[in-house]
Amino acid sequence: MQIAVVSLFPEMFGAVSEHGVTGRAVGQGLVTFGHHNPRDYTDDRHRTVDDRPFGGGPGMVMKIAPLQQAIAAARAQLAPVARVIYLSPQGTRFDHAKALELAQAQSLILVAGRYEGVDERLLESEIDEELSIGDYVLSGGELAAMVVVDAVIRQLPGVLGHELSALEDSFADGLLDCPHYTRPEVYQGRAVPDVLLSGDHERIRRWRLKQALGRTQQRRPDLLEGRTLTAEEQELLAL
Ligand code: ADE
Repeated sequence: MQIAVVSLFPEMFGAVSEHGVTGRAVGQGLVTFGHHNPRDYTDDRHRTVDDRPFGGGPGMVMKIAPLQQAIAAARAQLAPVARVIYLSPQGTRFDHAKALELAQAQSLILVAGRYEGVDERLLESEIDEELSIGDYVLSGGELAAMVVVDAVIRQLPGVLGHELSALEDSFADGLLDCPHYTRPEVYQGRAVPDVLLSGDHERIRRWRLKQALGRTQQRRPDLLEGRTLTAEEQELLAL
């Protein structure tokens, strides 16, 4: 997959392109990662990327031309089918299903805004989709773009080792994850649940599924509403 970001702070993206699972995917060439800074597409002495809003009001708005040219530079380097996404609290909510959908794309261009936002005409002319990562306001789209990049990359074939499959992720089955434990068996008086030491794989599987169901029901009942339970899940939830 090819990913390009358009941002005034491209260095921030080192957090995903240079570290951990996502950094390894980039290092192995499973993902190419590029960035384009709108400030490089200005022609005035001050390299101005923002201006005062028409109609008045606080804050500044990002000008259309530098952003449009940065997007054009990104498009020129990527497959022509690149999907262009703008991150903002006004977007539709990003979730696991959207991560799976975006993981099918050949190339993505993620546009991160700053200030009060970008000139609306950029959204009309260049943006395929506007995404939000949640109902709160960040100081810029970079962190949101990194959330999307991380969630998408881990769904690409070959990125997670088989011992840590994306299929095992919380949400892959529409449920929250079960609890996890490692050594020691007892720590400060707290013991690991016996069943996990039993070696009985079927009992362990059922215990984990029951834990996942119970947590989901308690913490995120909305997830269960959008999902039909199997006979076994109904049985475990009733126990
Ligand atoms: N930019 C600022 N806040 C954001 C959010 N919640 N989601 C996506 N982009 C944003």
